[in-house]
Amino acid sequence: MTNHSKNLPKTDVLSGIQPTGNLHLGNLFGAITNWVDLQNRYKCAFCVVDYHALTTVPDAQELKANTESIVIDLLACGIDPNRSILFVQSDVPEHLELYWIFASLTRYGELARMTQFKEKGGNRETVGLGVLNYPVLQAADILLYGASKVPVGEDQLQHLELTREILRRFNKTHGFLFEEVQALTTKVPRILDLKNPSAKMSKSHPEGAVFIDDEEGIVRKKVKKAVTDTGDDQQEMSPSIENLMGLLHACNQDQYNLMLDAYNSQNLRYGDLKVSLGNELCEYLKPIRESKNEWLQKKEEVREILFEGAKKASSIARPRVEIARKLVGLG
Ligand code: AMP
Ligand code: TRP
Repeated sequence: MTNHSKNLPKTDVLSGIQPTGNLHLGNLFGAITNWVDLQNRYKCAFCVVDYHALTTVPDAQELKANTESIVIDLLACGIDPNRSILFVQSDVPEHLELYWIFASLTRYGELARMTQFKEKGGNRETVGLGVLNYPVLQAADILLYGASKVPVGEDQLQHLELTREILRRFNKTHGFLFEEVQALTTKVPRILDLKNPSAKMSKSHPEGAVFIDDEEGIVRKKVKKAVTDTGDDQQEMSPSIENLMGLLHACNQDQYNLMLDAYNSQNLRYGDLKVSLGNELCEYLKPIRESKNEWLQKKEEVREILFEGAKKASSIARPRVEIARKLVGLG
């Protein structure tokens, strides 16, 4: 079978984040730290997915402000526009072109099965079509760049499985254009809500989430109020303690080792763990907050970065979408 992807420009890595509010520790340790790390080894593109956010942010001013703010957050966390392509999804309309081609290959049942769709009200008559089709656009985001590595948190694995299904179906039906994709997760792929360890940390429950913008007092307070267990069952670490330990591991491995030794010898006091984690998180977030304040003073430069990012992204996306169009019989 002819390989139509041969010689097309590509990136190795692509990932995306919605502009729906400030970054929290789930985003940071579940995905962004991996993005920053991968920049050293691969050609990467990172995309602020504002079309995706339209499904949940109906206010124009808010969406615009969120988009600018998340770009600044990413820069502050260490995404380097000299090494990676940083761009806004809606600046590259090819995403929508490929989305529609993919939507035509995707089955309703496949989308209705998605956990995120169900969580966002999939059983209601009034649920938006955008919420249903969300993973199809995500598949287009990834495959448009020929990326084979997708660093995401655990909640996105199901969407990546569907991406694989879509690309295989496309290749089989129309000819080989899309390479296989693989998810890359961090050591802590699912950060739990501090107040409710049966749910993942998310922007929609700010009491249980630590945001990179939270003042130090707030960070410590949120950690202090985190749910733990009664300490009775020492057979296995409970999800709440595992979560706190995972966060500590992500910030400072030495402190983690100390606490783990204490845990293993049944001497860990949860109060001590919380104090240690509060301190380490504040240390970890400090340079990010400082860098964010600097970027906030350089908004013109940020606009320039996005302009250049969109240009580079388009130059990769266009040739692949042209071939996809030809293969399905358009134009
Ligand atoms: P979102 O903010 O939903 O666009 O997510 C951006 C990235 O952060 C995705 O790769 C998610 O999988 C990841 N992410 C979001 N929340 C969490 C969490 N609680 N734990 C781990 N990763 C997360
Ligand atoms: N669906 C992802 C989320 O909710 C965001 C996203 C959109 C994405 N397009 C992507 C992630 C492409 C990885 C690759 O977090």
